Amino acid sequence: MAAQQTNLQKMKITRQAFYLSGFFILAAINQPISAYGQENIWLPPGSTTMLSTPPPPEILNTNTKMNGSALLGKLLFNSPALLGEKAVRIGLSCASCHPSGHVHTSFYISGLSSDPGTIDLTNDFWKAGQEDNIFNPIPIPSLRGVSKNAPYGTALNLPSLAAFTSHVMIDEFGAKPPAEDILKALLDYMELLETEQAVNKYVHVKPPQFSELLGLLSNPLKRQDVSEFAFRSDLIKEELGRQVTPANKEKLTQAAQNISKITRKMTKDPVMANRVFIKLKELLLEE
Ligand code: HEC
Repeated sequence: MAAQQTNLQKMKITRQAFYLSGFFILAAINQPISAYGQENIWLPPGSTTMLSTPPPPEILNTNTKMNGSALLGKLLFNSPALLGEKAVRIGLSCASCHPSGHVHTSFYISGLSSDPGTIDLTNDFWKAGQEDNIFNPIPIPSLRGVSKNAPYGTALNLPSLAAFTSHVMIDEFGAKPPAEDILKALLDYMELLETEQAVNKYVHVKPPQFSELLGLLSNPLKRQDVSEFAFRSDLIKEELGRQVTPANKEKLTQAAQNISKITRKMTKDPVMANRVFIKLKELLLEE
């Protein structure tokens, strides 16, 4: 029952992401170069929510490849599907304010920011009924080393990162309460974020590799869990959109189409679904 609910929730998030942010994914696939600095019609004029420069380095306390839950968390962190409807509509993800877990110092929404890099989250722009009637933008904090920064929040002082993350999603952005494994994935990712000073060795990680992304799909495919597969494949398609270049555009578009085909075939024709998955692997992993 609980698992079913979780899946239902995910289906809803997936669908919401599909309808509302589908065009961002397409925009990313079609216009890789203008992905930086593009603004959208849902925001007051003069707002800046997209990075105009490449994101800051991502500093992780691991020198191994990122996989499993933490990789899923990284994709979620970058996905507009995670926050409430308003955030989805303006294409906002955790990474819009905390790119690579650091700070977007130029982030600015007219009427909600005082200086660039600040934002008023207690405003019903984000979630109906949470207006505190005070214009109180606060600086966006860096999440580098965040796992060691308890208590969390300027006004609230919540003791755990899990509690604060749920609070951010539900109370501030009006998102649905995150399913347990989604919250865990986000935390697993954020717990890897380090400050430069905190570690001797750190990696400035490359974007997730295709083999790692495919690794996220094989388990739900094996278990024939269509909703989990669909949920993860949307996140992966978004990631492919971020990694697209003129040189690999054709390959990644084909990969995205194959992923959609597997989702469609999984229940009715699992043999075909497996065959397409093998084709997808060959396509993405070839040099
Ligand atoms: C619109 C910008 C914005 C977005 C989007 C956003 N945050 Fe934040 N975040 C902030 C601001 C501003 C604060 C400071 C809040 C406070 O102190 O009460 C904050 C604080 C935090 C903190 C606490 C940091 C600390 O050291 O106390 C965490 C953890 C966090 N955010 C995680 C997330 C996650 C996870 C997401 C996506 C689900 C997210 N944020 C999306 C602006 C944003």
